[in-house]
Amino acid sequence: MRGILLAGGTGSRLYPLTEVTNKHLLPVGREPMLFHPLRKLINAGIHEIMVITGVEHIGDIVGTLKSGRQFDAEFTYRVQEEAGGIAQALGLCEKFAAGEKCAVILGDNIFQDEFGEHVKDFEAMDEGAMLFLKKVMDPQRFGVAHIDGDGRVLGIEEKPKEPKSEYAVTGIYFYDPVCFDVIRNLRPSARGELEITDVNNHYIRGRKMVSRILKGWWTDAGTFESLTQASRLVLQEAG
Ligand code: G1P
Repeated sequence: MRGILLAGGTGSRLYPLTEVTNKHLLPVGREPMLFHPLRKLINAGIHEIMVITGVEHIGDIVGTLKSGRQFDAEFTYRVQEEAGGIAQALGLCEKFAAGEKCAVILGDNIFQDEFGEHVKDFEAMDEGAMLFLKKVMDPQRFGVAHIDGDGRVLGIEEKPKEPKSEYAVTGIYFYDPVCFDVIRNLRPSARGELEITDVNNHYIRGRKMVSRILKGWWTDAGTFESLTQASRLVLQEAG
């Protein structure tokens, strides 16, 4: 399985910290934010990783991550020319994925759980996608899963005003190569982006999506509050 680390976007919610610095290079604990999701891929046995970021920050990102040798991994870099959404960024990875399944992780998502067992389970599946849910206090900030009595995901709504559950869709996703065909047929959302939630809903409609509920803590780090929280959790974990 191949890994994809997404580190684009404008980081507008963290301005002025992101005036000249890429959001994903801001400190979380004792390291740059994106080291944390990167290590989740590597700990799960994924060593071939494509890193996507915008034009302005590609130099800083390469300067920080380098070749991947220090992580026992191999990095490939690609530029996303405009902030066109998570699904657009994933679409840039089709050649890199080379017909293999891939694990996509957002550079501002900080997880306690490890994913090695989930990767094994997903590799054993013939097809489809896997997503990871976590119960949160503020679901309207995220993609929110609508779940039936058996725990099956019926659909996902992106940042709903009236969430149908407390289960947020976290920023790690496993896909088979069909995701690239799905992305080719997507239309931009109201905010002008290709939404990863639309990709996920496509798999859900086709009954090709499985989901898991995370056991450990999880936070994004894209707002001042969550950035502070992420650092607190990471430092606590380090002891
Ligand atoms: C993105 C996704 C959303 C998901 C979140 C996780 O939102 O669109 O579905 O719940 O990441 O961090 P963003 O923070 O990019 O607006």
